[in-house]
Amino acid sequence: MTVLGTGLDTASPEYAENRAALLAKLDELAAEQAKAVGGGGEKYVERHRKRGKLLARERIELLLDPDTPFLELSPLAAWGSDYQVGASLVTGIGVIEGVECLITANDPTVRGGASNPWTLKKALRANEIAYANRLPVVSLVESGGADLPSQKEIFIPGGALFKDITRLSAAGIPTVAVVFGNSTAGGAYVPGMSDHVIMVKERAKVFLGGPPLVKMATGEESDDESLGGAEMHARTSGLADYFAVDEPDALRQARRVVARLNWRKAHADPPIAEPPKYDEDELLGIVPGDLKIPFDPREVIARLVDGSDFDEFKPLYGPSLTTGWARLHGYPVGILANAQGVLFSEESQKAAQFIQLANQRDIPLLFLHNTTGYMVGKEYEQGGIIKHGAMMINAVSNSRVPHLSVLMGASYGAGHYGMCGRAYDPRFLFAWPSAKSAVMGPQQLAGVLSIVARASAAAKGQPYDDEADAGLRAMVEQQIESESLPMFLSGRLYDDGVIDPRDTRTVLGLCLSAIHSAPVEGARGGFGIFRM
Ligand code: COA
Repeated sequence: MTVLGTGLDTASPEYAENRAALLAKLDELAAEQAKAVGGGGEKYVERHRKRGKLLARERIELLLDPDTPFLELSPLAAWGSDYQVGASLVTGIGVIEGVECLITANDPTVRGGASNPWTLKKALRANEIAYANRLPVVSLVESGGADLPSQKEIFIPGGALFKDITRLSAAGIPTVAVVFGNSTAGGAYVPGMSDHVIMVKERAKVFLGGPPLVKMATGEESDDESLGGAEMHARTSGLADYFAVDEPDALRQARRVVARLNWRKAHADPPIAEPPKYDEDELLGIVPGDLKIPFDPREVIARLVDGSDFDEFKPLYGPSLTTGWARLHGYPVGILANAQGVLFSEESQKAAQFIQLANQRDIPLLFLHNTTGYMVGKEYEQGGIIKHGAMMINAVSNSRVPHLSVLMGASYGAGHYGMCGRAYDPRFLFAWPSAKSAVMGPQQLAGVLSIVARASAAAKGQPYDDEADAGLRAMVEQQIESESLPMFLSGRLYDDGVIDPRDTRTVLGLCLSAIHSAPVEGARGGFGIFRM
């Protein structure tokens, strides 16, 4: 009875068109992701290999349990900036000796692995994920420290990195640092603050100041090994707990450290779940290239949840927002999915009630975005759209169950907030390549600017140049369009990654599993005042 049916016609021209548009976007995405994987480019990769070193992703691969997935986060960080895509850091969640861990690895082929403003944002986000979900952290360190030309952007906020490590430790979340190379000056505090430290023989360089700096400061003659080599730290300073003879040995020892953490997740893993009744591949043909055309989110839900089984809540009330209960890879979830784009008063009230129910029952929430925002207009203002939208935002803000957000299509205006946008602390937020997010649609924004400019000219008694207005509108539209696209937003770390729609169930399953490392407990009260 509660298994969703489907009305998707996979033989229709619309389906073919939607699918082709998404596949084209996925090709663009793959090209950008390849840049992150390519690191600093052939010359630097070659040099790194000649030094007998493993690349960041190879280190991660050796660290993880064989044939287990790695959920890489924010691979497009720094996209659209002056820095290399990927931000010289790899972060993600993987399984080590059966323990889900948050892993970070500097990419030493990109400007010596130095941290630029985007590296910092990405590292801080990784720490946030580890903290919220109680994931042990393993840092694979080899970095030139602060990217010196951009020091003004990173020096002061960057201090949080070391604070985070010790706060994780204070919260009982294990931290492990494996040092493969340079980890000097501020970087020395990564091993310095970590619970467990492994250093690689004749490779690790962990000192507050290198030989030239020491010479300048005190006149003392020294060398890398005596100042900060692995052997010195293992035998003399005691900063290294484990001495590794080479990189594979360091990764093997890191696995042993994790094996001995005696780590237990707050919730046991659920039994193997039934897959959806419909092919996940069909997720490519649902979202129209033109986001003005609505689509039924039940078609998406039917391809994400266990057995396509979905108990819809209040299906007859506020139909522009679909809400209901399901399981995803065995984990219970409450789903809120935009159906017709606009959120009205009824939808907002329904969402507020639904979010409270999920909190009472300790059920994580999944937000599937395709909204142009809350309804405007006299009738709706008089009907109390502000206070009803505020109810939904209150519920989302003060909810304590974990939230997952996926931007499938539009995610505009306060609708982005009500649907648990980035600023509302979803545990994870991903976008499909079909998504767009901004304060409003490009045409609407350009139109509003034009109306305001026209009114301003009229108020000053000045003539209005219609030709210039058309040019300006086109320019603004283009700018807003490019700033609404997933790659741009992902570059700024406004999501945790742009994903292939076909991977959504797997990605959400990995996230739900990570989330259940920490206790899932909803708010029993503690919401702000709901304006009735
Ligand atoms: N900021 C900005 N650029 C940096 C950098 C930093 N901290 N560290 C390295 N780079 C750049 C280098 O200028 C070089 O650029 P180029 O190839 O265009 O000439 C590139 O990154 C690679 O550096 P290189 O020195 O050739 O690599 P390496 O692997 O031989 O050595 C380091 C790497 C990190 C050991 C070495 O670059 C270094 O000591 N950097 C400074 C470390 C430091 O004191 N940081 C301050 C900490 S707060």
